[in-house]
Amino acid sequence: MQETRERVLDALVDGPVTGPELAERLDVSRAAVWKHVEALRDEGFDVESGSDGYAIDEFPEFGGSAVEYGLEAPFDVEFHESIPSTNARARDLAQEGADDVVVLADEQTGGRGRLDREWSSPSGGIWLSVLARPDIPATHAPAYTLAAAVAVARAAREAGVDARIKWPNDVVVPGTDADGEAVERKLAGVLTEMEGEADRVSWVIVGTGINANVDPGDLPSEAEPTTLRAETGDVDRRVFTQRVLEEFDDLREDLDAVVPAWREYATTLGKRVRVDTPGGEVVGEAVDVSFPGALVVDTGDERVTVTAGDCEHLRPVED
Ligand code: BTN
Repeated sequence: MQETRERVLDALVDGPVTGPELAERLDVSRAAVWKHVEALRDEGFDVESGSDGYAIDEFPEFGGSAVEYGLEAPFDVEFHESIPSTNARARDLAQEGADDVVVLADEQTGGRGRLDREWSSPSGGIWLSVLARPDIPATHAPAYTLAAAVAVARAAREAGVDARIKWPNDVVVPGTDADGEAVERKLAGVLTEMEGEADRVSWVIVGTGINANVDPGDLPSEAEPTTLRAETGDVDRRVFTQRVLEEFDDLREDLDAVVPAWREYATTLGKRVRVDTPGGEVVGEAVDVSFPGALVVDTGDERVTVTAGDCEHLRPVED
């Protein structure tokens, strides 16, 4: 957030404060104060103007300044009511040299998922992309993807949802289907893009889609989706987004902590899996995840380390 806007917001939260007082305190013109107040109103802040001056009563449920306010992570947040894809917008910002920016949207009209699939992103979700320029080799970038999945799982668990992670980065919730069979429904997914040389990343974009205040019926059923609304009721998206960004920021500062944290919530480990990899199909028991996010599969003959692919959980083999 622009520094003056942030200071105006701070003062209004502590308000009431008159325009002239605020102008003097911040050393800006009254017209500038008025401009910031109007901009905050445009973002959905309920700025009251009474005889004692301006004061803020209510925060908008979602939005750039709202998420930045009180956020304990160093991100600027660019909010869009509707945008084709936050990852695409973050790529444009990367070309412009931006760093530590989050592109956040209420709705995406052209959301992309892994393996070039469409990602349905109706209004009410949390669709965000973090653009960062970490000083890491390209081979470590998958740890960023896992970190985002861990961050979402933690935020969802705080909200009372039994969120787990399916390799590599699907946040899922265990449940049962109409026949009482165990199923895992997808709550969130992560799509990471990056650019750089082998020894150093230039930028990385971690795109995270969270089915938040959305009806599962409004999402494609093939994806076996669930939503925070279905699991626990609507959440405060401002606070939920802040928690995700704060957890993600902590983890990226300590990449060695990512895999142990991921293992804590893993639903894939110990299961029989089939992984479609660029090099062919691997079937066996998922026995571990190694840094920066590779799945170790015991096929019975050997242990195969898979770095990328589509993973399916299989039913255990009957003896
Ligand atoms: C997956 O296939 O599981 C990954 C889905 C990633 C979707 C998110 S929503 C925000 C960002 N913008 C996009 O277009 N995709 C990612």
